[in-house]
Amino acid sequence: MDKKYDKIRNDYRQNPLGKKDVHQNPFEQFNKWIDRAISSGIKEPTAMSLSTVGKNLQPSSRMVLLKEIKDENFIFYTNYDSRKGHQISENHYGSLLFYWPELERQIRIEGRIEKASKEISEEYYLTRSAKRRIGAWASPQSQEIPNRKYLEDKQEEFNQKFSGNPIKKPSNWGGYTLTPYTIEFWQGRPNRLHDRLEYYLDDNDWKIRRLAP
Ligand SMILES: Cc1cc2nc3c(=O)[nH]c(=O)nc-3n(C[C@H](O)[C@H](O)[C@H](O)COP(=O)(O)O)c2cc1C
Repeated sequence: MDKKYDKIRNDYRQNPLGKKDVHQNPFEQFNKWIDRAISSGIKEPTAMSLSTVGKNLQPSSRMVLLKEIKDENFIFYTNYDSRKGHQISENHYGSLLFYWPELERQIRIEGRIEKASKEISEEYYLTRSAKRRIGAWASPQSQEIPNRKYLEDKQEEFNQKFSGNPIKKPSNWGGYTLTPYTIEFWQGRPNRLHDRLEYYLDDNDWKIRRLAP
C-alpha cells in the first residue's frame, strides 16, 4: 500500500546558530552539543549513522555508537570482517551523522577511517561485560547464518571455552577512528530557513562557513 507523509510538518524554534555562538574548534562545539543531547535525556544520544562505500561504489549506512573522541578522532567499535569492515578496507573515506530530533539538530561529519590501535581496542574490550565480550566471539557479523539457534549455540560454545579463563579480544574485533575534515552543525529554524555552519580544514586550521539551508 502506498503512503504519503507530506502532511507531517514540524515548526523549528530552537535558538539561532551563528558564527559568534560557536567555538572556533569543532570538537569543543561537538562536545557542547553532545553533552546537551545526553543531559536532555534523549534515547541513544551517542548513536550515529555510519556510511561507507566499498569498491563497488554502492553506499551503505548503519547505526553505530560513538564510544570516544580521542586526539580529534571519533571512535566506534565493530567486527573487522563485517560488511562495513570490508568496505572500509577498500575505501577509507566515510561519514557520520547524528540526528537529535528533540533538539532539532544534526551533525554531519566526513573524514578518513582507519583501524584504531590494538591497545585502544583491547582497553575498550575489557570494559565490556562478559556477556558482550562473548557476543563479539559468537557473532560472525554480516554473514548469513542458518537460524537464531546457530547464534545461541555459538554463544554457549564460547561460554564453555572461556569458562574460568579471561575472555580475550577476538583479533577481528576492534575500533575504528574517523579523522574528520568537515563537521557541519545544523540547527532547525522556522520556515525552513535553518542554520548550517560547516567547519573545514584550511592549511590545518579549522575555518567556519555558513551554508544555505
Ligand atoms: C542504535 C544502534 C547502535 C548500534 N551500534 C553498533 C556498534 O557500535 N557497533 C556495531 O558493530 N554495530 C552496531 N549496531 C548494529 C549495526 O547497525 C549493524 O547492524 C551491524 O554493525 C552490521 O552492519 P554491517 O553489516 O553494515 O557491517 C547498532 C545498531 C543500532 C540500531
